[in-house]
Amino acid sequence: MSSSFDNVPAAVRIVEVGPRDGLQNEKVAIPTPQKIQFVQMLASAGLPVVEVTSFVSPRAIPQLSDADTVMSNITRLPGTAYPVLIPNIKGMQRALATGVRSIAVFTAASESFARHNINASIAESLANFRPVVALAQQEDIPVRGYISTVFGCPYEGAVDPQRVVAVAQELLAMGVQELSLGDTIGVATPRQVENVLDIVLAANDITREIVGVHFHDTRGTALANVLISLQMGITTIDAAAGGLGGCPYAPGASGNLATEDLLYMLHGMGIQTGVDLEKVVAATRYIAAYLGHTPTGKYYQAAVSSR
Ligand code: HMG
Ligand code: MG
Repeated sequence: MSSSFDNVPAAVRIVEVGPRDGLQNEKVAIPTPQKIQFVQMLASAGLPVVEVTSFVSPRAIPQLSDADTVMSNITRLPGTAYPVLIPNIKGMQRALATGVRSIAVFTAASESFARHNINASIAESLANFRPVVALAQQEDIPVRGYISTVFGCPYEGAVDPQRVVAVAQELLAMGVQELSLGDTIGVATPRQVENVLDIVLAANDITREIVGVHFHDTRGTALANVLISLQMGITTIDAAAGGLGGCPYAPGASGNLATEDLLYMLHGMGIQTGVDLEKVVAATRYIAAYLGHTPTGKYYQAAVSSR
């Protein structure tokens, strides 16, 4: 008998973005040693990828202006990847000086968001990435490419999926190995996700193995969007411990999909992740003490209120 779960993968790779996408939007300055400890706790929970920080302009994201110190001082586990966000060659040079071995570049599918977020057109941003990716290739460093506003833009509204395809193909052509499709402002719903993935996965050179999904949970649809993505065979899912985060240049983008909520659903479905859910809760609990507010993740809140 066929089931709607036939294509759902047996194992999923979670990309933990809490220390970067989660913390970048926090108002209170979080002390550097606590950021380092947060990263280490998440890696110790078994998360295969922990995005550590961003080597962006400190004026753009003051919270992550300690990127150099954080990256230089984490104790790295073998088998865990510790990528960082890089906007330009200056960021890449800073990152290389700290021994970075995995990076992500980031642009958008809508011009207005790219302008607000990185002060560049999409074409200019791609031009800025070319020397970054070339340098990464020289150093044998894998590169992920984020595309924001795939499912809607805070300034332009609807986004044509063909724009996503065009940006994705340019990223891949320059040597980016993996894509992350961002619902930056958390507006996507499952039928739309199916439609966009259908179009993107039908395009030349884009296979499901290299496509990750990155849902913000602003309107509570992130897990539903993950489910349809799984049903379409996607195996890489981004999430942030505690549901921390949002993008300072995306009004309303509060809250990434919470890693704990994702893990609870995946494990309940018998999908392997290699991650210890309670250790992620412990990491969220640890960093929560420095935020000045309670993380919004549902599993997290249920776990801490029952203790
Ligand atoms: P700009 O002002 O156009 O850059 O910013 P510039 O090249 O004209 O330089 C201006 C100043 O910034 C100069 O300093 C540069 O040296 C400095 P000054 O001479 O005036 O003293 N600068 C840097 N300093 C340190 N490191 C650097 C760097 N680059 C320039 N790398 C820029 C352009 C891209 C740099 C800026 O807009 C920026 O840093 N933006 C980052 C914004 C950001 O991090 N947004 C959040 C992450 S994206 C996201 O959250 C979405 C995602 O999660 C997916 C999704 O949800 O959709 C990934
Ligand atoms: Mg994001």
